[in-house]
Amino acid sequence: MLKDSINLYKRLFPFVKPYWKKFIVALICTIPLSFCSAGIAYLVKPALDDVFLNKDMQMLKLIPLGIICLYTLRSFFEYLFNYMLGYVGHSFMTDVRNRVYAHLQTLSLSFFLKYPTGQIMSRITNDINLLQRAVNTGLIKIIKEIFTIIGLTGVLIKQDLKLACISFLITPWVIIPLLRFGKKSRKFSTRGQQKVGKIATFMHEAITGNRIVKAFGMEEYENRRFSKENVRLLRLRLKRLKIRSISGPLMESIGGVAGAAVVFYGGYSVLAGDSTPGTFFSFVAALLLTYAPLRTIGTSYQNIQEGLAAAKRVFQVLDTEPEIRESKNAKQLSDVRGRVEFSGVFFAYDDNEPVLRNINLHVKPGEVVAIVGMTGSGKTTLVNLIPRFFDVTEGTVSIDGYDVKNITLSSLRNQISLVSQHPYLFNDTVRNNISYGDVNQSEEKIVEAAKAAFAHEFIERLPEGYNSVIGEQGVKLSGGQRQRIAIARSILKDAPVLILDEATSSLDSQLEKDVQQSLESLVKNRTTFIVSHRLSTIRNATRIIVLINGKIVEEGSHEELLSLGGEYAKLYSIYLEKDKMACKKGA
Ligand SMILES: Nc1ncnc2c1ncn2[C@@H]1O[C@H](COP(=O)(O)OP(=O)(O)OP(=O)(O)O)[C@@H](O)[C@H]1O
Ligand SMILES: [Mg+2]
Repeated sequence: MLKDSINLYKRLFPFVKPYWKKFIVALICTIPLSFCSAGIAYLVKPALDDVFLNKDMQMLKLIPLGIICLYTLRSFFEYLFNYMLGYVGHSFMTDVRNRVYAHLQTLSLSFFLKYPTGQIMSRITNDINLLQRAVNTGLIKIIKEIFTIIGLTGVLIKQDLKLACISFLITPWVIIPLLRFGKKSRKFSTRGQQKVGKIATFMHEAITGNRIVKAFGMEEYENRRFSKENVRLLRLRLKRLKIRSISGPLMESIGGVAGAAVVFYGGYSVLAGDSTPGTFFSFVAALLLTYAPLRTIGTSYQNIQEGLAAAKRVFQVLDTEPEIRESKNAKQLSDVRGRVEFSGVFFAYDDNEPVLRNINLHVKPGEVVAIVGMTGSGKTTLVNLIPRFFDVTEGTVSIDGYDVKNITLSSLRNQISLVSQHPYLFNDTVRNNISYGDVNQSEEKIVEAAKAAFAHEFIERLPEGYNSVIGEQGVKLSGGQRQRIAIARSILKDAPVLILDEATSSLDSQLEKDVQQSLESLVKNRTTFIVSHRLSTIRNATRIIVLINGKIVEEGSHEELLSLGGEYAKLYSIYLEKDKMACKKGA
């Protein structure tokens, strides 16, 4: 546990390092702060002995002045201490958040498929907040309070050594439970944060999937699911609260015992004439003043433990290596001609059955390859291997003869324009969604791309044209409109390899033909992979690949495959039927 904590602190240190000057200032503040507290306790002695007992006029003027000075000084240093420490804490948190976010961007697609969005978000927000609290009210606050206690202990010893020893005997009784509570806090914190992550996941799903929740009347069900998790969190929080609330009173009651012993023994000394009331009350004041720092140490210690638990979770994210990594001598790819080759490719998600088996496919520059096959046959998976969203399990995928594993990821993806099966649009303007990838594109080019995707007309009709914000995932647009914006985006990217995964599936027949036509002009001089169920699209391809259960079973032109009378011929009749139905509906 201790080793674990030290390791975590070691790793946190570089984040605090840039702010070391402010940290040192805060640290230095702790010394005058401790002197001031000790001074205040010490002044009780002359106040009682000289003013009240000896009736010394001079002291009557001096002591209040002294008190004012000490309090003013203490306030000043307290302010400086808190501000500096807060500054470090907030800046630290900002840096950690930036780091975690930037790291997330480097992680592979598989990471985002594995962990729910809510959980990932909870780590960036809640865990880092806990971490900040550990920095703000953590170690240095404990150092400050220890200094204060040392100063006050000086006063205790100075005023009455024997009494001081009695009080010290009590100390371990306070510290041992505190340490145990800290450990427990850490455990509950980890579990609590896991729950918070789960709750965030529920919320994210129910909010983004709200339309479905409503359509299926599942509000109650969602509420129950959410509230069940919420109650579990409550239970954990209550356990934590118990620990947090018990430590103060426990210390207080132990302090009460100490106080009673001190009053008994101290009062006895005063009555016996061994000590003065001033000495005694100054002692009591110092003892009382140690109470607050001890209590702060208790809560700070718990905050540290919770913070360390959070730190562990944050570092877990930072330690996640991207599965897809560039090789050391990765080549910068430029001026690609567009030869794409799959050689002996096998692919499986995680440890599941292979989804692609022994794929051998050599595509010449400028070829248009249509990939057809039943749903779930592996079409999307196949095209996802080209921009290296996933790594092959066996075999190689190469572009212009270079294995994609030996090309820098950015230069590889620069050569590929992709319209995915579920295009993602951002809650931003139409313009920015089209020019995503190169935000400095000229207005002319953007409009040109929109025209080619047959999107210009409807964009013009939007309330603010190209400046209209289209909502999260483009919710303010129809499915077909979204697809056309995604197509415009890929047209604008103008890359030598084009991948269209069901890119026109939401468009009606006429519109699809139009878009198809402009895609045809786009397809010229590019290597294109088209996944589609539409005959008109498939027919125009230079080559058709038929995938069944992850295997290429047939390959050739439309006519060749049709005359073969095999799998393609079967698919063809299904597609033909579908197209007819679509036409009927359209008419
Ligand atoms: N992230 C994933 N993890 C595990 N299995 C997956 C994952 N994505 C897809 N699969 C599985 O891989 C197989 C192929 O999926 P893929 O999306 O490539 O099919 P597809 O041919 O594109 O189908 P469709 O025509 O419906 O789009 C399916 O059986 C699917 O269940
Ligand atoms: Mg698919």
